[in-house]
Amino acid sequence: MGTVQVMNHPLIQHKLTIIRDKSTGTKYFREVVNEIARLMAYEVSRDMPVEDVEIETPLIKSVQKQLSGKKVAIIPILRAGLGMVDGMLDLIPAAKVGHIGMYRDHETMEPVEYFVKLPSDISERQLLVVDPMLATGGSAVAAIDALKKRGAHSIKFVCLVAAPEGIKFLQEAHPDVDIYTAALDEKLNEKGYILPGLGDAGDRLFGTL
Ligand code: PRP
Ligand code: URA
Repeated sequence: MGTVQVMNHPLIQHKLTIIRDKSTGTKYFREVVNEIARLMAYEVSRDMPVEDVEIETPLIKSVQKQLSGKKVAIIPILRAGLGMVDGMLDLIPAAKVGHIGMYRDHETMEPVEYFVKLPSDISERQLLVVDPMLATGGSAVAAIDALKKRGAHSIKFVCLVAAPEGIKFLQEAHPDVDIYTAALDEKLNEKGYILPGLGDAGDRLFGTL
């Protein structure tokens, strides 16, 4: 079973409170989502392998460490996942970016796929699937299904707010995927929104409320 890491670092908790607050406007919301994504990228990359490399400092030759292993691709689930991309790229600037368009039908709550554009070498990359919200888990599971169908097999899922229902559904569907979330909230309401949550992440990021 994949691991679930709740990143309750004080800076992340503080920033999450800002974006949960309904009085936070679009511009500030977008900035803080990116700031949290940047902090999460630091932790998500903790197990990246390193190798020895010989360099010369201004004083002597020395063996030091550099990143090795798989290259990374960041895969935002549209729309709201886009809000996390720049923050992630700040720490992992060489990553490629693939896009998966997925929206929840408001009646059925089922995810509908409408766009997929990925780097050609996803099977060789460590994929970081990003979406601020893991609610029922339908969108995350469908996005990861779409990636695996195209050859991906090394996947981490990174979100800001997760519901217990979404974690369970994602773990059951994709037990090989580690989940990183900034917060684990209480539950879903009858419309599939996370409580206490932060509302509709896409609408708050793009001002479409
Ligand atoms: C939101 C969110 C997730 C999904 C989570 O997207 O960004 O993708 O809902 O819900 P789930 O876990 O129940 O699938 P939404 O469908 O509102 O689309 P948007 O990002 O375009 O606003
Ligand atoms: N999608 C959102 O944007 N917010 C929720 O609370 C649930 C799904």
